[in-house]
Amino acid sequence: MGRFGPMSGIFRQWPEWDKGSEPESMSENVISTSRPRVLSGMRPTGKLHLGNYMGALANWVKLQDAYECYFFIADWHALTTDYADPSRVKLNTLDVALDWLAAGLDPEKSTIFIQSHVPQHAELHLLFSMITPLGWLERVPTYKEQQENITGKDLSTYGFLGYPLLQAADILIYQANYVPVGQDQVAHVELTREVARRFNSMYRKKDRPDIFPEPGVLLTPSPKVTGTDGRKMSKSYRNTIELSASRSSLITMVDSMSTFGRMRPTDPGNPDICPVGDLHKLFSAPEIVTETQSGCRSAAMSCRDCKGKAIDSVWKIVGPIHEKRMQLESNIEQTWEMLRDQSAKAAKRAEQTMVEVRKVFHLSHDLGVEAHDFGVSEEELTSRRNLNRYEDLRRPIIAEDGIVDPHLDSHWYLSILPKEIAITVDPDAGWLTSKKKRVLVRAGISNPIDKLWSFEVPQKSYEVWVLLFRDGKNWLEDFVLPQKYFSQGFAKAKKSLKKDEKIPVTVRKDGSQFLLSIHGSEPIDITELQSNYDPLK
Ligand code: TRP
Repeated sequence: MGRFGPMSGIFRQWPEWDKGSEPESMSENVISTSRPRVLSGMRPTGKLHLGNYMGALANWVKLQDAYECYFFIADWHALTTDYADPSRVKLNTLDVALDWLAAGLDPEKSTIFIQSHVPQHAELHLLFSMITPLGWLERVPTYKEQQENITGKDLSTYGFLGYPLLQAADILIYQANYVPVGQDQVAHVELTREVARRFNSMYRKKDRPDIFPEPGVLLTPSPKVTGTDGRKMSKSYRNTIELSASRSSLITMVDSMSTFGRMRPTDPGNPDICPVGDLHKLFSAPEIVTETQSGCRSAAMSCRDCKGKAIDSVWKIVGPIHEKRMQLESNIEQTWEMLRDQSAKAAKRAEQTMVEVRKVFHLSHDLGVEAHDFGVSEEELTSRRNLNRYEDLRRPIIAEDGIVDPHLDSHWYLSILPKEIAITVDPDAGWLTSKKKRVLVRAGISNPIDKLWSFEVPQKSYEVWVLLFRDGKNWLEDFVLPQKYFSQGFAKAKKSLKKDEKIPVTVRKDGSQFLLSIHGSEPIDITELQSNYDPLK
């Protein structure tokens, strides 16, 4: 354990939140919202069983009221071991979601989503992989253990080695303060803290808060849930009782349990070594536990009666969950829809973090290339004209030679020009339409008070002019002029100017009209050419 430094500080035991006390100190430097953030996930392995419920889910349900919670289904994590046969991933994902909802996770309170619907997790994982020493991953205890214990799967893969780093990305992308997990996951949260610390210290800057808080573990007390065969309840032993079991299958499962040592009803038993005794300890009211234990030890109660009482106790939990699951199963599409919506909500939060992370790595998203540029809404397209949104575009740069807005043309090209209009930028020929028309793109110097914008046009012939400028509110305006609008003025100006002189061109706003004037010639109305991309087709 020593590798990741002292363990103190990472744990928070359940009783503290159970008593309703808020965790006192959140990680320094990170802007806190009202409630501390909690995140956890499960790999989709199919329907949940009582062990999953007692060891995790029941605690999550309680956490929802005290924390801002994110719970997700780690389908990419499932692929790290099941890549060879991924056929059940989607169905298992649905099964987990249905059980979560049936057990009381509530999308009104928590964000409940699917990992692979939020591609930002993968992006952060990739960026973390740049700064994570191989040794850190090779030394995570679960890595070697699982490689040895899981037989029949080749786990000497890059993805499996990276499992805990993907988990670190899952946690840190939401800037989570706490991770409710069992003991088996503690090493992964330790690695997460280590990655956060390395990132923060490598890219620390004076006037910038650290991006990642170091998350703590909310250690889930994991009561040992015994399976039907007396071993720990686990899918791999095929000894589980499903969380959403029907009453009849619950009866079948409990009836099949071996009650060690009591061959005949007259033999006394020992509830401490009996799986049914374990069920009572977890699920029965104290009176029932006392009654069944003494009945067992004295042989006054038959195993059959004892099991009947265990079934009743378990059904108190499982019954309502079964009911709710049946209800949900009658409209699966509704659950998928919820997962899609919630994943979009999660992606929005994750994207906030990624905007900061991309800046740290000097990736060029702030030029206006949106992270996922498909299906851009009308609203989004309009708001991309708002130059205040972009760090590089907020102010024009006015240099001595009159060059302004060095980024305005690339912003227009990347973020404003509709994607279906194919313009190429050739280093020699400049901008060309798909029909090889030559296009001049020029940003103007603004004089918004006079509603006048000036451009300098070279004495070179182009077939289309694109004039860009910022209006009084700092929004981008664009006019696309086909040749007939400027050919006369251009020819006249050329005659009266010296060979290398630039041609002065202005656009003036007059009421709601925009007027173009080339080197002082008669103004021409170009209003209808605003954001009209037809000449570029
Ligand atoms: N590794 C976890 C498990 O096996 C699942 C998981 C993936 C997770 N990402 C996470 C848990 C992030 C907590 C936080 O149970």
